[in-house]
Amino acid sequence: MAEPVRHIVAVYGTRPETIKMAPVIRELRARPAQFRCTVVSTGQHRDMCRPYEELFGIRPDIDLSIMVAGQTLDHIVGRIAETFSPVLAAQKPDAVLVQGDTSSAFAAALVAFHAKIAVGHVEAGLRTGNRHNPFPEEMNRRLIGALADLHFAPTSASSENLLREGVDPARIVVTGNTVIDALKYLLASTPAPRDPVLESMDPSRRVVAVTTHRRESFGEPLLNTLRALRTIATRFPDVEIVLPVHYNPNVREHVYRELGSMERVRLIEPMPYERFIRLVNRSTLVLTDSGGVQEEAPALGKPVLVLRETTERPEGVTAGVAKLVGTDPAAIVDAASELLGNPDAYAAMTRGGSPYGDGHAAARIAERLLALPHDARASG
Ligand code: UD1
Ligand code: UDP
Repeated sequence: MAEPVRHIVAVYGTRPETIKMAPVIRELRARPAQFRCTVVSTGQHRDMCRPYEELFGIRPDIDLSIMVAGQTLDHIVGRIAETFSPVLAAQKPDAVLVQGDTSSAFAAALVAFHAKIAVGHVEAGLRTGNRHNPFPEEMNRRLIGALADLHFAPTSASSENLLREGVDPARIVVTGNTVIDALKYLLASTPAPRDPVLESMDPSRRVVAVTTHRRESFGEPLLNTLRALRTIATRFPDVEIVLPVHYNPNVREHVYRELGSMERVRLIEPMPYERFIRLVNRSTLVLTDSGGVQEEAPALGKPVLVLRETTERPEGVTAGVAKLVGTDPAAIVDAASELLGNPDAYAAMTRGGSPYGDGHAAARIAERLLALPHDARASG
């Protein structure tokens, strides 16, 4: 007898979820005899997902369109609860897949749980151990972990976190991070795009790429980071800082005020993925509080300074390709100066390679989903 076709609803809402869910959606859609995949965008990021959907060829079947400017966490969760629930009632899938730790992922997992539909968590088991940092992501991922039936852990360390919390080992698969699948797809499928920013840059200058957007850094920590960037730009006349500014108004206002008139600091709009990855490739050094960028930079052989007090991605630090520097301006300036000024220290941080996966995470996720629907819901 032919195996049933599993109906999977794949949800994303923000930029990083789109990038990291795209390889899974592509994999499921490449196996029509095994899967039907309905793509749902919550629309948490109204503007920032579209270019990635085009790049990966994954138009959403359903868009919940929940974003409002300056939205609160409760707005995101409340609107998704209201709007995703009827979608599941109509679709009746075998499973819902969510990715990461955003409020979209948490809300969608909760709604699926209420509907008694199995939840698969892509990028499961990341933990800082501090429930308030990053905020609200650490709590979101713990809550998704409690709701999930299948945990797709990117690394053995994330799998161990889940085992320590008592998750049934039969419900965990170590897959690698789907961001490496996305990166490989991008590098293989798109020719290097023309880029006005990179093309207009003096080739003799070294580039430092920076991104910052975390909620727990708003206010003084963000200001401290921006002050550190001013010092770095002043201290190294052959360095150009390039900072694609996140759309969050809490970020934009401060970034433009503090750095808008600095020489050799370029503030630009968020970049399409193919251009951002080329910017990282052209960079000497990356400073970021982003999760995804912490994973991508080592895969491209670039040292990363993590502008946060905690990281749920200790693998990069252990491999020696990332350093957790926090948001103290002196610590950021010292760490950046060491790498920009000392070739040996720099070389030591480029040798570790990527600890985050081999680019086959999506295929491993699909294989495990084949056990559905017989193996649908966890009992623990
Ligand atoms: C969200 C996630 C965070 C993730 C980040 C990736 C939550 C609580 N936060 O944070 O985990 O790391 O995305 O970037 O889920 N905006 C636009 N257009 C867009 C996107 C955002 O105008 O396409 C503006 C809006 O004013 C919006 C605000 O940015 O209200 C904040 O967006 P939101 O999704 O709430 O938070 P992020 O800081 O983007
Ligand atoms: N990114 C991008 N353009 C930019 C900045 C980032 O395409 O201008 C990509 C980056 O390559 C990574 C993802 O966005 O894959 C990370 O998203 P973000 O930092 O917003 O979220 P996080 O990973 O911290 O949740």
